[in-house]
Order: sequence, then structure tokens, then C-alpha cells
Amino acid sequence: MSLELLRKAPVAVLLGGNSAERAVSLQSGKTVIDALQGQGFDVRAVDTADSDWVAHLRDVSFAFIALHGPGGEDGSMQGALQALRIPYTGSGVLGSALAMDKLRSKQLWQGIGLSTGGFLNLSPATDWQQVIDRLGKVFVKPTCEGSSIGMTSAASAAALAQAYDRASQYGGGVLAEQFIDGPEYTVAILGDEVLPSIRLETANEFYDYEAKYISNDTRYHCPSGLSASEEAEMGELALWAFRSLGCAVWGRVDIMRDRAGRFYVLEVNTIPGMTSHSLVPMAARAAGMDIAALVGRILELSRARCG
Ligand SMILES: Nc1ncnc2c1ncn2[C@@H]1O[C@H](COP(=O)(O)OP(=O)(O)O)[C@@H](O)[C@H]1O
Ligand SMILES: [Mg+2]
Repeated sequence: MSLELLRKAPVAVLLGGNSAERAVSLQSGKTVIDALQGQGFDVRAVDTADSDWVAHLRDVSFAFIALHGPGGEDGSMQGALQALRIPYTGSGVLGSALAMDKLRSKQLWQGIGLSTGGFLNLSPATDWQQVIDRLGKVFVKPTCEGSSIGMTSAASAAALAQAYDRASQYGGGVLAEQFIDGPEYTVAILGDEVLPSIRLETANEFYDYEAKYISNDTRYHCPSGLSASEEAEMGELALWAFRSLGCAVWGRVDIMRDRAGRFYVLEVNTIPGMTSHSLVPMAARAAGMDIAALVGRILELSRARCG
């Protein structure tokens, strides 16, 4: 589809929705709307929490998905748009669904030999002591939630039982991952390009909800302080993790590094935050791209993917 065709009808920006990340999505959507309007597009904001949201898509040329979390980022919205024959931004159905599922992402990565922390799938029948014996201190998380919700570390069988109870409140499965003690990074991907990495530093025990959205003390280092060869090594790992799940166009890969210097992939985000203080815009800025250029590039890459 040519840019001219795209300009003949409104571009829909899908935002809001019903997930726990609705508030962030409204901000991401606003950033995208401003950027597209600045480039002369006729933009239509569509809140997918409205009962008649589909009706607002009837005559649009393209959909920019600025939704986060289940319902917007997990493949269901991508499938709906595909069925409606509306081309959309970012990853397709498979990549979106796989990336939303942390357990299946890790199973796939383990299968191809990509570096990710050792893990076990937990259930009420799990022998907690056996998990600790095998993995040592663990980090427990719901398999299909974001925003660090329901996560705690556990170094004993009793603590693991409690961590399981907490993580299992969110409906899906629960994962215990080997605890990684070391710095945390995130790497933005844009097409075939790996943007400069960001190192996250928090005074909290981990990069939790408070550190992500509330605290003013969280520090973001970009450039992240790695050597050029370490940066290249982590970038390759990030791109491999992203592509192996079938993800495309843009996204963000979360990575940790242990004391021995080895990198481990935590997860892939297929629709990362796009607010002015979000991480992908920060990495893009470090690469000399402002938000308008970033939004334009996502649209362009997505158009190429949709044919
Ligand atoms: N294996 C681990 N060891 C130590 N900390 C972890 C581990 N996995 C996740 N964390 C911490 O929890 C945060 C959230 O985990 P992540 O897997 O990125 O889920 P999400 O961002 O979707 O909530 C990470 O940013 C990191 O601070
Ligand atoms: Mg994360």
C-alpha cells in the first residue's frame, strides 16, 4: 500500500481499551495522534473500550495500535483487524500472542539455545522445595501479565508457596525463573535496526510497578555504559529473541546480566509504551530520531509488512 493510498482515508489510532494498562495506553495514543497529525494524516482516535469501536473502523486506511496488555497486545486485536481486512502496525497474530506468554516464549528460546534464565512452570501440585533445590533463589511471575504485576522473589519453599499464591491471582499460569542478580537493560528494535540500549537502575528490589510508573528515583542510562562489543552482543541477542517469536516491525526486549557477565532475555514487549518519557522514544532519541520520526518509521515498516 502506498503512502498516497494511506492518506486517502483516516488512519485509526487504537487506544485505551480495558486492560490494566489503559491509562498508559491513553498517553501512548495521544503521542501517536499528535505525531501523525503533525505529518498531515487525517487521524481518528478509537477507544476499544467503547462498545461500538468496530463501527469507527469502517472507512479507515490503516490502524496504529497503541494498546498495551491483554486484548490489545496479545494477538486478539491483530486477529480482529486481519479479519476486518484493516492493515495494522507492529507484530502479527503469532508474534503478539507468543510474546505475551512468558512461559511459551522461554520454552521456545530454550529449544533454540537462546540465553534465558532457567525456569519451571508452577502448579498447586508443585513440590516447592524441589524448585528451590533446582533453581536456587527464584523470581516468580504470572505468565501473561505485564507491568511487574504479581511478581516476587523467593529463596525458600515457604516463600515460594506465598509467591505462587500471589502470582496465581491473575488467571493465567505461574512461572518460577532463576533469580538474576545484576544490572537490567532494555533494547528497542525498529525493523532490522537495534537502537541504543538503556540500563535501568532502581532503588527498589526490582523494576516493579512503583519504579516503572510512579517513582522519580528510577534512573535510565542511555548510553548504558557497555563496551561496543558488549552492546553488539546484547543487541544480537535481543534481535534473535524478537525474531524467533515471529515478532516484527518494532518492540522492546528486556534483558538482565549476571555477575559473570552473561546476558539473559526476560521477555519481549510488542507494543511498548509511547509516552514522551517511555523507553523506546528514549532509545530512538539517542539514535537521533524524535517521536514524530519514530511514529512515521513504525507506520512505514508496518505498511511494508502488510504488503
Ligand atoms: N529472573 C529474574 N531475576 C531477577 N529479577 C527479575 C527476573 N525476572 C524479572 N525480574 C524483574 O522484574 C521486572 C519485570 O519482569 P518482566 O519479565 O520484564 O515482566 P513485565 O515487565 O512484563 O512485568 C524486570 O524488569 C526485573 O526488574
Ligand atoms: Mg518487562
